[in-house]
Amino acid sequence: MDVTNLKTMYWKDNKLFLIDQTLLPDQIVYHECENYHDVIDAIKTMKVRGAPAIGVSAAFAMALAELAGENMETAAKEIKAARPTAVNLFWAVDRVLNADSALDEAMLMYDEDVETNRKIGKYGASIIDDGDTLLTHCNAGALACVDYGTALGVFRAAKEEGKNINVICDETRPLCQGARLSVFEMQQESIPVRLAVDSAAGHLMQKGMIDKVVIGADRIAKGGVANKIGSLMVALAAKRFDVPFYVAAPKSTFDMENSIFDVEIEERDPEEVIYFGSTRVAPEGTEVENPAFDIVPSDLITGIITEEGILKPF
Ligand code: MRU
Repeated sequence: MDVTNLKTMYWKDNKLFLIDQTLLPDQIVYHECENYHDVIDAIKTMKVRGAPAIGVSAAFAMALAELAGENMETAAKEIKAARPTAVNLFWAVDRVLNADSALDEAMLMYDEDVETNRKIGKYGASIIDDGDTLLTHCNAGALACVDYGTALGVFRAAKEEGKNINVICDETRPLCQGARLSVFEMQQESIPVRLAVDSAAGHLMQKGMIDKVVIGADRIAKGGVANKIGSLMVALAAKRFDVPFYVAAPKSTFDMENSIFDVEIEERDPEEVIYFGSTRVAPEGTEVENPAFDIVPSDLITGIITEEGILKPF
C-alpha cells in the first residue's frame, strides 16, 4: 500500500473527496461528497475530523451548496450545526458566506492551510532541542488539516532542521486518533514513535521521560484552550513535573469573543466508550459520560505556537 502523499481531502469534478479517517490506518478509502449534506454527515461521523480539516471541508460544503443553487444561509446554518466545539467550522463558513465565490474561497483556504502550518512548524521547531522526547495527544497532524499538521507539523519541521526527536503518542480513547492516526503519520515520516495508553502520561513525566508536550487545539479563547478529552490531565501532570506544555494552532482556531469556559463541549455517542473498535468492553446498557473535549486553563500552558509566532496564553 503506497501511503506517501496521502491527502486528507481533494476537490475533483465538482465533488469533495475526504479520506475516511474512521478506516485508517488499515484501509485507505476516499469518501465522495456530492452535496453539502454528505459533508455534514462526514463531519458528524468523523470521517473528517481535526479543527482545520473540519473548517476547510465546511468551506467546500458551502461550495457544493453554491454549485447546487441551494440557499446559502440555510446551508451555512446546517453546516455550522455539525459539531459545536472547533471554532474553525464557524470561521470557515462565515468567511465563505462573505466571499464572491464559495469555491474560489474554499480553494484559497485549502492552500492557506498548508502555508500556515509550515509557519507554525517553523516557529514551533525553535522550542525543540536535539534529542527531545515529545508527547502529543490526539491527532493534530496532516490528517487533522489539509496537510503538514500543527503539533505534528512542529515535529516535522524539527526533523527537517536535522534535529533528532522521539515522539510518544497517547492512544486517545475513545476513538484512538493518537494510535490510529498520529502513530501512522510519524511512521510515514520515519520519526521514531512509541504509543502509550492515555493513563501512562503522568508516569512517563514523573520518570523524566518527556521533555515537552505539544498538542493542537479546537478552540483558543479567553482563559484557555479546548482540545481533545484528556488534554487537561496531560497538562496537569506536565505542570506537576515541570514539563513545558505547548499548544500549536492557527489563528483561525482563536475565538476572542468568548470565555473558553462558555464554549460548548460536544458530548458524543455512548457507544464510542462502550466499544473499543468493534469489541464491547462494558456491559450492554452501561451509562456513559463521553465529552469529546476538555479545557486546559491558561496557567497550565507554556506557550501557544501560531503562524505569527509563539504567544503567551491569555
Ligand atoms: O474529535 P477530533 O478528532 O476532531 O479532535 C481533534 C483534536 O482534538 C485536535 O487536537 C484538534 O482539532 C487540533 S487539529 C490540528
